[in-house]
Amino acid sequence: MKIILGPASKQLGEKIAKVLNTHIVPVVAKIFPDGESYVRLEGDVLNEDAVIVQTTGPPQDTNLVQLALMADAAKRNGARKVTAVTPYLAYARQDKIFLHGEAVSIEAIARMLQVAGVDHLLTVNVHQSKVLDRFPFPARTVSAISLLAEHFKHNGFEKAFALAPDKGAMYIAEEARGVLGGGCGYLEKHRDRYTGQVSAETKTLDVKGKIVIIFDDIISTGGTIIAAAKILKELGAEKVFAACAHPLLIGDAEKRILEAGVEEIVGTDSVPSHAGKVSLAPLIGKELAR
Ligand code: R5P
Repeated sequence: MKIILGPASKQLGEKIAKVLNTHIVPVVAKIFPDGESYVRLEGDVLNEDAVIVQTTGPPQDTNLVQLALMADAAKRNGARKVTAVTPYLAYARQDKIFLHGEAVSIEAIARMLQVAGVDHLLTVNVHQSKVLDRFPFPARTVSAISLLAEHFKHNGFEKAFALAPDKGAMYIAEEARGVLGGGCGYLEKHRDRYTGQVSAETKTLDVKGKIVIIFDDIISTGGTIIAAAKILKELGAEKVFAACAHPLLIGDAEKRILEAGVEEIVGTDSVPSHAGKVSLAPLIGKELAR
């Protein structure tokens, strides 16, 4: 096996290679003046299982095209099998048609990657795991939630309440509760499909005087966490933290989340971010070694 260091995840790729004690293939990447991407593998992949580590967070389209080009290059240079490790899988939230005339974006992306040469895909906390069943090649997801919960446990927050910002994320809160040993629950979230505006409500949630950690797969604009934090404060939570697998934190999201009363945001290194305090390398390394 050789690890191809995708430009979007060079540091994570190096850490994974270290965990697996395997060789790396550096990549030269550049953007032409007209905006097109260029990649060149600086190593041999002939007859190898080539693992490309390339997240597809912002800038999603450039990172996806680079991934496709690296897969093409690996296949052309004789790789036996190409696995794409995309810690954050872009376009996964558009996994169905919400409004008439839309694309099912993630299916189009999966077909594009297959044509480019990807044989297998590994990702982390994909928004809905069942979307991977519709990929034209084997694709699987692993969860970083236990790692995040362990981080809080080691920092003295054992028994903290794990909150999912919506019912769909309840499985995430349950996973965190398995490590933290406190309670867990969820809020009712509503998102306006046209404006993106988020609101949240709850009927029964006993968090008065408790330390609450909101666990989610992604923090993007921060709207979800801010709406949840507001309710938690109204319900008398003592302290509120936010944890996520993918800290995209677009624009001033981090500032607005902290201003909403959240003590700290803890994410993984699935995308480059200073909130990425927990590394995915051991988790991904273990999965690749299976
Ligand atoms: C949506 O259902 C996801 O699980 C996240 O809650 C959402 O993508 C977060 O986005 P934002 O930070 O923009 O509210």
